[in-house]
Amino acid sequence: MTRRTGEQPSSTDVAHGRTGTDVAERGAALPERFENPGLPPHQHRMADTDPRAARRAELQVAVLFGLSIIGTILTLVGYFAVPLRDQAEEGRIFLSNALLGSGIFLTLFGIGVGAVHWAKTLMPDAEAVEDRHQIHGTREEQAEAAEILATGVGESGIGRRPLIRNTLIGAVALAPLPAVVLLKDTGPNPEGVLAETLWEAGTRLVTDPTGQLIRATDLVIGQVVHVQPEGIEEASHFLDEKAKAAVLLMRLEADELSPGAQAGAYEGIVAYSKICTHMGCPVALYEQQTHHLLCPCHQSTFDVTQDCAVIFGPAKRPLPQLPIAVDDEGYLVATAPFSEPVGPSYWEREQDARRMAEEA
Ligand code: FES
Repeated sequence: MTRRTGEQPSSTDVAHGRTGTDVAERGAALPERFENPGLPPHQHRMADTDPRAARRAELQVAVLFGLSIIGTILTLVGYFAVPLRDQAEEGRIFLSNALLGSGIFLTLFGIGVGAVHWAKTLMPDAEAVEDRHQIHGTREEQAEAAEILATGVGESGIGRRPLIRNTLIGAVALAPLPAVVLLKDTGPNPEGVLAETLWEAGTRLVTDPTGQLIRATDLVIGQVVHVQPEGIEEASHFLDEKAKAAVLLMRLEADELSPGAQAGAYEGIVAYSKICTHMGCPVALYEQQTHHLLCPCHQSTFDVTQDCAVIFGPAKRPLPQLPIAVDDEGYLVATAPFSEPVGPSYWEREQDARRMAEEA
């Protein structure tokens, strides 16, 4: 930047004891404009002048693309030859990870470095200066761009270097295969697993986590109890089952409940799934005065008196109700499973909801 006469000294000038006069004199000595220094002389690469160096570079590029092909094969072999089943031993897991990791690394590394090496050693190395122009081009400019593109393809030598072209096609064509194969591990379809919970007609309600049976007469108005199905600890996937079956039990005045809520209630005691229908957080903040249930994650609010209808927030469905009654000994029991899947949406939810409605 050119400093102008009369300009104030900078902090560096002050630190070096320069006065405003010094700075003004220095500024006056500087030219208004610097000449364009231009580009330094172009240095040709070895491959530009020596055919043997070009051939060597071509082989190096082909080796890198070949390495990518080997990486893809290694990944596929690692996936199929070392399958991981439930409870796979540590050595097998290590071998699988090593093969998949090194295979994917070689696949991507070979293509990436091969392409860069090709560009740096064999593709045209001319230096060009292009003045700025308007962003949109005229028809002539577009035609010119197409011509430049065609020239670029011609100059890349892809037509003249079948070894590079073929290995590149092979590497690029095979590279997505591991990703497609690894997608297999995202299956199988849940097949109703997400919709079904351990609740069924006759399942007793017990406190979570202490497992105490609950008598209807022990609950007072305004009380809230976290509940789970009796015997859930013996389920084969205990935590998965618990995540779906979590229920909140509340006692209200019976006449505060809408007819819909009363259908599954017992003397003002209602049980609703605790899993938010938005994204599955536990809805456990109960406002005793308003009878609202609040989800702490994104503030969806459900009105317990209105069959847990959504009154605020991003949730789109009410919390499913667990219909309850008391058994011969006065303990609270479920009279039926949930009549729809609990929790947030998933791909097959509508299908599962229809099936459950038919079974109800
Ligand atoms: S998970 Fe409950 S509001 Fe988002």
